[in-house]
This record gives sequence, structure tokens and C-alpha cells, in this order.
Amino acid sequence: TSSVILQSWTTEQVAASLPKRQPSSHKGSYGTALLVAGTKEMPGAALLAALGTTRSGVGKLVIATEAEVVAMIVSQLPEATYVQNGLQQIAEKKTPIDSYRAIAIGPGTNPDALTENAVSTLLDSHVPVILDAGALSKRTYVKRHSPVILTPHPAEFSHITGVDVNELQKNRAFYAVIWAKKMGVTIVLKGQNTITAFPDGEVWSNSTGNSALAKGGTGDTLTGMLLGMLCCHADWKHAVLNAVYLHGACADEWVKTRSPHTLLAHELTVLLPELWFQLE
Ligand code: APR
Ligand code: MG
Repeated sequence: TSSVILQSWTTEQVAASLPKRQPSSHKGSYGTALLVAGTKEMPGAALLAALGTTRSGVGKLVIATEAEVVAMIVSQLPEATYVQNGLQQIAEKKTPIDSYRAIAIGPGTNPDALTENAVSTLLDSHVPVILDAGALSKRTYVKRHSPVILTPHPAEFSHITGVDVNELQKNRAFYAVIWAKKMGVTIVLKGQNTITAFPDGEVWSNSTGNSALAKGGTGDTLTGMLLGMLCCHADWKHAVLNAVYLHGACADEWVKTRSPHTLLAHELTVLLPELWFQLE
């Protein structure tokens, strides 16, 4: 069934497409990101994603979350600001969203009606939107001018499309392309050799990453990195491909001198500065 031509997004392509930081730039040059993440039961997902965003070139980060989560994050990430009770504020259209350069929703978020309403509000805007974890549901997407990027792991992909996981894993690129076209969205199908399928049929395989990433929290870090990269890249496709590449490259750096059993998700963002530096 698989007739997709799959190319790997190479180190050279990453190096050539990473954005430059102009000497005269200011925080406004790199945009403000909105991260909608975290509940009091899953506060860590919001912090992991927020660390990913703030390490990935963004100008400013606003986190829409619950009061308990704010209290938990502040000491570990003093750089962010907040929309208190954010999910509800967005669902009820009580907070402006059109001024953000990019938005991500879902890490540590419950897949319920409130989240679904917030997703609908965000998709009504002209801002690029990343949907992950609790924001991934079986739904259709209206045509819009800005990208919609879904970041499912195989079980989430299966849940939103109905494709059996075993069948999916045998033809990952094939199914990612079909569904990206059908839904008119970009699909980042995670797992070993993450596949990025764009709605125009363009598809890439990622060569970085390893089993050190096979643990809770690393997906939240990736979502945060995608959000930051969208804000600092001129070409949103490059942002997606480079985020996936660098996320995996951090894990590859880890296993050069440490056991893959031992990586913590937040340590990816500790390794990122040196990895990124080596490529620019
Ligand atoms: N090789 C390379 N990369 C891998 C491997 C592997 N063997 N295993 C996992 N990864 C990468 C994936 O490509 C992805 O980038 O690790 C990341 C895992 O992301 P998720 O599966 O989304 O995990 P995460 O979200 O951190 O898990 C926490 O969130 O999505 C929910 O239900 C999920 O409860 C879980 C929670
Ligand atoms: Mg996840």
C-alpha cells in the first residue's frame, strides 16, 4: 500500500534553515507564544512544554493554565506570564488571542468539552495552532489560512483516525500523508523516525532520537519546542522539521555519555543550547 517517497530532513537542511538573530532585534521580533497546558493533576506537562518554548527562540511566552499550576511553575521558570483559568477564558472567548504569533494546546489537558471548545476558539483565529495530547480528538478541520499542526503518538493517531495501531506502524508515512491531506492539517506522527506530513503532500522522516525518549514528558517538551520554533522561524515548515530534529538530537547527545534509561524530559532543554549552537 505504501508508495510514498520518504526523504530524511538532514543536518545540512537544519543548519541552512535555522533563523538568524539580528543584532537590532527585540523581543517583539520573535513574537509572543500562547501555551494552553496543565491542570492541577498534570502541572508538570505545562512546565516541560514551557521550558521547551522558552529555550526555542521565542520573544515572550504566555501560559494559559490553572492557578495551582502557575504557583508551581513560577519558581522554575520566572520568564513566563499567565492567563489565569486560561482554558475557560479561551473557551468562553474572554481573552484576546489574535495577537499571538503561535499557539499550542493540549499537554496536561483533559480531553473534555471545555478543551474542545477552547480548540474551536483557537481554530477560529488566524494564528498557527499546535494540537497535542488532550487537545487531539476525532474531529474535522475547517479551511483556514494559518497552519494546524497535530502531534499524535501512534495511539493518539489511531484514536483520531480509526486506523489500527499495528497497521499504522507498518505504513507510518503512508497513513500520515493520507490523513494530513484528508484533514488539511500537518501531522507530526511521533515515535522512532517521526514522520512529518504536510497537507500539500510533502512528507519527511526524522533521523534523530532514540529510546531515551520513550518516557512520559518528552512529548510535552517537543510541543513546547515546536511552539518556540514557530515564533522565530520565517518558514513554518522549517520550524516544524527543525524542532523535531533538534528534540531528537538532544536525546542523541544524551546517550553519547549516559544510559538511555536515565534521561529526564526536562534535561532535553538543558542540552538544547549546545546542540543548536553547533548547527548555527
Ligand atoms: N525512538 C525515538 N523517539 C522516540 C522513541 C524511540 N524509540 N520513543 C518515543 N520517542 C519520542 C517520540 O517521537 C515523541 O517525540 O518521544 C516523544 C514521546 O511523546 P509522547 O508519546 O507524546 O509522550 P508524552 O506526551 O511525553 O507522554 C506523557 O502525554 O500524550 C500523553 O498519553 C500521553 O500520558 C502520556 C503523556
Ligand atoms: Mg504526548
